Amino acid sequence: MSIQEKAIQEFREFFGGEPDELVRAPGRVNLIGEHTDYNGGFVLPMAINRSMVMAIRYRGDQKVKLMSADFHQTASFDLDDFSYQKPHWVEYIKGVAHNLKQRNLPLKGWEGVMMGDVPRGSGLSSSAALELAAAKAFSEVSNFPWDPVDMAVVGQEAENNWVGVNCGIMDQMISACGQEGHAYLLDCRSLEGKHVPLPEGVKVVILDTGTRRGLVDSAYNERRQQCEEAAAFFGVELLRDVEPETFFAKADALSELTRKRARHVITEDQRTLEAAEVMAAGNAERLGILMNESHDSLRDDFEVSNDALNEIVMLSRSEPGCLGARMTGAGFGGCAVALVRSESVEAFTKNVMAKYQRETVSEPAVYVTEATQGACRLEK
Ligand code: GLA
Repeated sequence: MSIQEKAIQEFREFFGGEPDELVRAPGRVNLIGEHTDYNGGFVLPMAINRSMVMAIRYRGDQKVKLMSADFHQTASFDLDDFSYQKPHWVEYIKGVAHNLKQRNLPLKGWEGVMMGDVPRGSGLSSSAALELAAAKAFSEVSNFPWDPVDMAVVGQEAENNWVGVNCGIMDQMISACGQEGHAYLLDCRSLEGKHVPLPEGVKVVILDTGTRRGLVDSAYNERRQQCEEAAAFFGVELLRDVEPETFFAKADALSELTRKRARHVITEDQRTLEAAEVMAAGNAERLGILMNESHDSLRDDFEVSNDALNEIVMLSRSEPGCLGARMTGAGFGGCAVALVRSESVEAFTKNVMAKYQRETVSEPAVYVTEATQGACRLEK
């Protein structure tokens, strides 16, 4: 049974009767362009076939009532009067409601069941999927027009201002704007994007190391700060505006640490732009090489990888048919992504999992994924 069918079934059992609408927002995997979004740079993620689904029904009042089928928990709040309570999944939905209200959008109450299959904390953006699904639910019920870019910003604001996580815009943008069969080259400053078709004959394989990032917020914020310091040195607001030639001409005057951080971001932007180009030209081999270079730069210069990620990446690269592999997402644990020739995928997943051995918080896993559409309404 698909998660949408399960969500409908849970709705019937919990609320009784039928839901009016079904909405979905996907998680994502980033192919390349890591830790560039908050530097105003470029990213190349795709929306995946794992998502958050909500089966919802209109209410005639201002209440939002939710049942999380994943947590077996319920929560509710009143749109007329709500505030942040404590760390809890409902705060993501309240945060979205809060930011929609700030845009003077007339919100109406609803009740629904939510259910997701994006593994949490693994770097596949389960929270962006939740935020965009909630925004889509509000837009269906309250009947305001769906503007994917603005809704991505609403999701990011919810996470930044309400939940208190200082993320960039990539995850919400791809969950809102993804297109089937395509990755999305996004300029994180202008928020302009271009859908780029995935090359023929290869699959995108996600490898979950089963390790989870601890203390990630502080390390993530520290990296952001180091990037800001580097930008200030070059007299610009965002590292995106430092050309590689300028960087290499002046880099010696930077402290070693700041130089490494900036070198990652500046070279990663170049790799990401090239990756989109070679992808559009169907050159999967070159895309794989760029992914490898991205990982090495994240490991050595940006220092956000961990032993488990390095191991799974190296194991992946040594398998026949693997064109490239890298860590993906914020780092310090979670998932890697590999580009694998379609005919080698079966042997690849079997061999990597058999060779990868580590004490992990949760089970290592492999997901052979497809690029899917961004947040949308589903037919019931
Ligand atoms: C997390 C953040 C994103 C981005 C990545 C690193 O996923 O939510 O905004 O910064 O890390 O590329």
